[in-house]
Amino acid sequence: MTETTTLEQPPTPRYSLTAILLHWLLGLALVGLFIMGSFMADLPISPLRLKLFNWHKWAGICVLTLSVLRLLWRLTHRPPALPADIQAHMPAWQRFAHHGAQYAMYALFFIVPLVGWAYSSAAGFPVVVFGILPLPDFVAADKELAELIEPWHEITADALAALVVLHIAAALKHQWFDKHALLQRMLPSKTH
Ligand code: HEM
Ligand code: HEM
Repeated sequence: MTETTTLEQPPTPRYSLTAILLHWLLGLALVGLFIMGSFMADLPISPLRLKLFNWHKWAGICVLTLSVLRLLWRLTHRPPALPADIQAHMPAWQRFAHHGAQYAMYALFFIVPLVGWAYSSAAGFPVVVFGILPLPDFVAADKELAELIEPWHEITADALAALVVLHIAAALKHQWFDKHALLQRMLPSKTH
C-alpha cells in the first residue's frame, strides 16, 4: 500500500481513550461484583461473609461513582457514529437493539448499585466506604421494606448480566462472522 492511498483512507472512527479506559475498567469491575455478589450471598453467616459483604458494598459504591463520571463523559462527548457500510447492512431491528441495549446497560449501571444501597440501608446496615467514610442511609431502616427490596438487587443484577452476555455475543459476531471490526473502535490505537 502506498503512502498516498494510506493518507486517502478516512481514519476509523473510534471511541476516545477515556471512554475506552472506562469501558474496560468498569466492564471488568461489574463482572467481578456480579461473581462476588453471587458467591457471598450463598455463604453461611461467618466473618468471611461479613467481610465480603463490606468489600462488595465499597466496590459497588466506587463503581457507582465511576459510572456517574462515565455518564457525564458520555453526555459531553458524542460516541463515534457506526461506520456507513455497517449502518447500510444493519436491519432496523439490529440498530434498535444495538442502541437500546446500550441505553438499558447505562440505566442498570445506576439502578443495580442504588437498589443494593437501598436494601442495605433498609436492612439496618449502613454503608461505610473503606470502613472510614459513612454514607447517608438511602432509606430509613425498615424490615418489611428490606424484604420487599432484597429480590430486586438480584433481579436487576441478573438483567444487567443477561444484557452483557448479549452485548459480548453481538460484539464477537460482528467481529468474527460479519468482519465488521467494531472491536477496533473500543481498543486503544497509536493515533490516540
Ligand atoms: C455496582 C454493581 C453491583 C452489582 C453488579 C452487584 C451484584 C450483586 C449480586 C449478583 C448479588 C447476589 C444476589 C443474590 O444472589 O441474592 C449481590 C448481593 C448483594 N449486594 Fe450487590 N451488586 C452491586 C452493587 C452493590 C452495592 C452498591 C451495594 C450496597 C451499597 C450492594 C449490596 C449488596 C448486598 C447487601 C447483597 C446481599 C443481598 C442478600 O443478602 O441477598 N451491591 N450483589
Ligand atoms: C469481551 C467483552 C466485551 C467486548 C468484546 C465488548 C465490546 C464492545 C464494543 C466493540 C463496543 C463499541 C460498540 C460500537 O462500536 O458502537 C462496546 C461498547 C459498550 N460496551 Fe462493551 N464489550 C465487552 C464487555 C462489556 C461489559 C462487561 C460491559 C458492561 C458491564 C460493556 C458495556 C458497554 C457499553 C455500555 C458500551 C457503549 C459505550 C458507550 O457508548 O459509551 N461491555 N463494547
